[in-house]
Amino acid sequence: MNDELRDPLGPASDGASVDGSPEGGAEKEEGHLPVMVDEVLETLAAAAGSLQIDATLGGAGHSERILQASSPDGRLLGLDADAAAIARAQRRLARFGTRAVLRQANFRELAQVAPAAGFGAVDGLFLDLGLSSYQLGDVERGFGFRAGGRLDMRFDTSRGRPAADLLATMNQAELTALFHKYGEEPFAGRISRAIVETRVTAPVETAQQLAALVERAVPKKPGGRRIHPATRVFQALRIAVNDELGALEAGLAASLVLLRPGGRLVVLSYHSLEDRIVKRFIAAEQHGCVCPPAVPVCVCGRQPRLRSLGKSRTPSTAEVQANPRSRSARLRGAERVAA
Ligand SMILES: C[S@@+](CC[C@H](N)C(=O)[O-])C[C@H]1O[C@@H](n2cnc3c(N)ncnc32)[C@H](O)[C@@H]1O
Repeated sequence: MNDELRDPLGPASDGASVDGSPEGGAEKEEGHLPVMVDEVLETLAAAAGSLQIDATLGGAGHSERILQASSPDGRLLGLDADAAAIARAQRRLARFGTRAVLRQANFRELAQVAPAAGFGAVDGLFLDLGLSSYQLGDVERGFGFRAGGRLDMRFDTSRGRPAADLLATMNQAELTALFHKYGEEPFAGRISRAIVETRVTAPVETAQQLAALVERAVPKKPGGRRIHPATRVFQALRIAVNDELGALEAGLAASLVLLRPGGRLVVLSYHSLEDRIVKRFIAAEQHGCVCPPAVPVCVCGRQPRLRSLGKSRTPSTAEVQANPRSRSARLRGAERVAA
């Protein structure tokens, strides 16, 4: 598989390699297992009394551990765009009382939401990108190939356009560009043609329909495939529906405003489109100066605002065995430096 797409459905996509569906397996019963949790805690270094932000609560597994690590008086602001995640996190984190403050919000609005919640200068900001196993397992949301409900894919179902709308309204060239850009799909042209031809008679409305259409549109691979042929198309649609890469850029930019000197940014990404943005952001902010190479002496005056906390990390073999959905994770961390 192209390294650009290590695991196109993100943390919860493991089943795709086995039975052509991202659902199923032990994790469905257990909920969402937090990924690289020890490494995240080590990198965040959340101490007693500190202020932390978990901008992607999901099942609140990481948040719970951050609150434990920052006992007895550390406080955490938890965000998720998904109302169901907030409701679940409220139950899980209830025992921490006022130490946990939860808000339904998109982390692209972090620079406004966090100060309004009393988290204007924080010691840690954590992002665990993509979708949770709860979302993948909810057949009404359309994230998984087997989902029979309308193809929605929005993290926040009160805003934006569901994936089925994009499939119904975008023209063939736009669909091809989308599958190329966000899925790096080699058969983007064939798939978009099949969508446009199919919708003349009946709309492509469910995840099941789309998965079956893609399966028919792409050539069979001798010896079978490691991932479902629709994996890249599903990834592309999900990224587009939620403007995931735009939100990531805005969330990273907010970290510069919100982190105190010495505060830490920790990001878990699950495919190279995300990881590249994180990597480049940290590298650029570590460098500071943006003068062209031809300029002998810096005239821009920009100072470094981050210090990288070293090379990216990936899960241990033991974790991947215990939680195959962690296998594509990549962790990066950086520390805010005084400008
Ligand atoms: C991988 S899960 C997080 C899992 C969590 N760390 C845990 O331990 O259970 C990602 C979560 O981030 C949320 N999310 C994704 N993009 C978001 C955004 N731009 N703003 C807010 N929440 C987002 C999703 O709704 C999902 O619940």
